[in-house]
Amino acid sequence: MTIIFDGEKLAKQKELKLKQKVMAYHAKGIYPKVVAIFFHEDQASILYTSLKKQTAESLGIAYQAKEFSFASPVEEIQKYIEELNADPSVTGIIIQKPWTKKWLESVPNGDFNEWWGSLVSKIATKKSHGVNKDVDGLAPATLEAIKNGTWMQDQMVLPATARAVLSILKDYRANVDSDFSYLTEKVLIIGQSDLLGRPLYWHMQNLMQKGATVPQTFGEVCQVAVSESQVSKNKCEVKLVGKQGLAELIEQKKSLSDFRVIISATGQKNLIKGDLIADHSIIIDVGEPQGDIDLPSCLNKADFITPVPNGVGPMTVVSLMANALDLLRSFPQKILGDFNQFIVGKDLSP
Ligand SMILES: NC(=O)c1ccc[n+]([C@@H]2O[C@H](COP(=O)([O-])OP(=O)(O)OC[C@H]3O[C@@H](n4cnc5c(N)ncnc54)[C@H](OP(=O)(O)O)[C@@H]3O)[C@@H](O)[C@H]2O)c1
Repeated sequence: MTIIFDGEKLAKQKELKLKQKVMAYHAKGIYPKVVAIFFHEDQASILYTSLKKQTAESLGIAYQAKEFSFASPVEEIQKYIEELNADPSVTGIIIQKPWTKKWLESVPNGDFNEWWGSLVSKIATKKSHGVNKDVDGLAPATLEAIKNGTWMQDQMVLPATARAVLSILKDYRANVDSDFSYLTEKVLIIGQSDLLGRPLYWHMQNLMQKGATVPQTFGEVCQVAVSESQVSKNKCEVKLVGKQGLAELIEQKKSLSDFRVIISATGQKNLIKGDLIADHSIIIDVGEPQGDIDLPSCLNKADFITPVPNGVGPMTVVSLMANALDLLRSFPQKILGDFNQFIVGKDLSP
């Protein structure tokens, strides 16, 4: 029988824990505050910003949204980001990544990656500004640290969707199969964007290569407990593919069924059908608004599937909030002191 994951339920449990954490911060006079920049031409960004704001405020995290246009001069947005970097009351910054296609419609012949890079590279990180405000884990310095496996020491965070996926796998281990660890399995990640595929691949690969020298304490949601003896280096593998890589795998008979864990983030409806997957597989569907997984044909074949909606989506929002709180660890006591003075008397408790 296939277990269908309940994202809302686990997200609510995580939210309760985060709320306690926020209240503990409030009791110490520390009030986390996130500022999210979004671009009004992208409707999805408006929706996501509003959902995140609702969740943040229900937890007691102040969340302020700042609107720009694709037509806004880059220098103006960069100047605003620098102001947020220097503002001691702002503990986290998000730049809501717009849909590339939407951006290109407004900026024909523009270079989306260059535009995006010129903004995210301005967000404060520990090395550049002494504190880390990159809540999304999408700044080039953060991605570089994830690739090098130093993100934890550098007090950075994984992109929220990657953290959400790890959290779901951890929950599977905690509640369904205590012998399961992705570090001992063959894992396939489909979709190689910065939001999920690439950072998740780097993180998993680093852990597998290190023979599971695993983080025990960093971040409530991304702990993975596995002993070195459980890791069989011969068996475990993580593979990252895009369009061509997946087509090549599908051409090879039975190739997808080599993988116990499949994580798909392409946005291509029903891309993964039951005849491609192995019995007892664990399938994480990151596609939105429609799922990548053809649920009916995978039922009773996979052991575990995250549905769309109510799977990875709600877990991503709560993971983002967990990221916002983890960033506070990068603030030296001195700065938290100044920050407390700045917002004294402003109680944002729910
Ligand atoms: N639930 C959540 O919290 C959450 C968060 C973020 C994103 N998402 C969803 O995840 C999906 C991907 O978003 P994104 O921002 O990462 O998109 P993206 O930057 O456009 O990347 C899409 C990726 O999917 C791959 N791809 C597309 N069609 C494919 C196919 N037929 N076979 C194999 N790979 C294919 C692309 O491969 P190439 O590299 O070869 O082009 C690319 O690597 C969307 O549905 C988005 O809504 C969900």
